[in-house]
Amino acid sequence: MSDPAFLDVRQATKSFGATRVLDGVDLAVGKGEFVSLLGPSGCGKTTLLRLIAGLAAADSGRFRLDGQEIAALPPHKRDVGVVFQSYALFPHLTVAENIAFGLKAKGAPAGVIAETVKQFLGLVHMEALADRSVRALSGGQQQRVAVARALAVKPKLLLLDEPFSALDRKLRETMQIELRRLLRELAITAIFVTHDQDEALIMSDRIAVMNRGRIEQFETPEAIYARPATPFALEFVGLSTRIAGTVTAYDEAGFVTVDTPQGQLVARGRFAAGSPVLLGIRPERIRFGTEGGENRIAPVLRDIVFQGARVQAHFVSPDDRPILIETSAALPAGLAAGMPVPISFAAADTLAYPAEAA
Ligand SMILES: Nc1ncnc2c1ncn2[C@@H]1O[C@H](COP(=O)(O)OP(=O)(O)OP(=O)(O)O)[C@@H](O)[C@H]1O
Ligand SMILES: [Mg+2]
Repeated sequence: MSDPAFLDVRQATKSFGATRVLDGVDLAVGKGEFVSLLGPSGCGKTTLLRLIAGLAAADSGRFRLDGQEIAALPPHKRDVGVVFQSYALFPHLTVAENIAFGLKAKGAPAGVIAETVKQFLGLVHMEALADRSVRALSGGQQQRVAVARALAVKPKLLLLDEPFSALDRKLRETMQIELRRLLRELAITAIFVTHDQDEALIMSDRIAVMNRGRIEQFETPEAIYARPATPFALEFVGLSTRIAGTVTAYDEAGFVTVDTPQGQLVARGRFAAGSPVLLGIRPERIRFGTEGGENRIAPVLRDIVFQGARVQAHFVSPDDRPILIETSAALPAGLAAGMPVPISFAAADTLAYPAEAA
């Protein structure tokens, strides 16, 4: 990445009344990078975008874009495009006129405008509706026009706040792939807000996992999936088996031995004896039988869920945390709900986290 901090947000904080909505957020985004903000409703995603776009003022923090301090600049001087959660189109204009709007305002030549509008109409599959008033569009169609309008002026930074939430699954998947390709082609840096982990995993160069006004982890999708930094990141991104226990021993290699209701298990982590911990294992890392690794347990099977190419097996857990296997291999013969089933997994795939205060 040529400029590792094309957008550089440092220690952004924002409160509404007594509620701190952003609590010291650092976010450095490289030029051309596609970053997702992934987190549950209310964690501060939209607020962070609004601060970057200049639509709200931070209580404190620094904001630099392309080497320039932007905190004091009004929104239209920041060269930041925004697609809002509620797509605000110009209601008196047609689809094509909405997409052309920013270029006209910049004084682009008519030929360039016509060419660009055609390109972006194509991107969002709206060629047939170019001359229709946006008042006569469905929610999903309006979202697509909003994306095209923001992209048409080729901003330095594009902020997208759940732009595909009103689209059906098929169109959403098409748009995800096409938007990603187009942003790469145009080398536009983008921050994409979503609370859909699959969308974030598919689209992003890096994902910032947000929780309660903080970024808990900011890494590639692969790294976040393989090594979630916090119990929240573990739970929010991907499925996992979670087993609570207490550390009884630790070694210099970075492994702990943990007493759990399922028996003694070994996990990656550095904790003192006596520490309460939560163990997390990805479901595809657990095998039926005893050959899957050092950790061997035999929980009671609750049910088997067929998912086409893969199958999930869910087990009964005394504290109601999920214990599950996901596999595309053939299941052992004779499985039945209510019976204990031997399963196993490697210590290296078992991650220990500090248990949340009970
Ligand atoms: N103008 C405001 N005045 C008071 N509280 C606000 C204001 N804007 C946002 N909040 C609060 O700040 C918190 C974060 O809101 P924000 O819109 O950033 O969440 P979000 O992560 O985008 O959530 P969602 O996924 O639901 O869109 C919420 O608790 C919200 O109620
Ligand atoms: Mg929001």
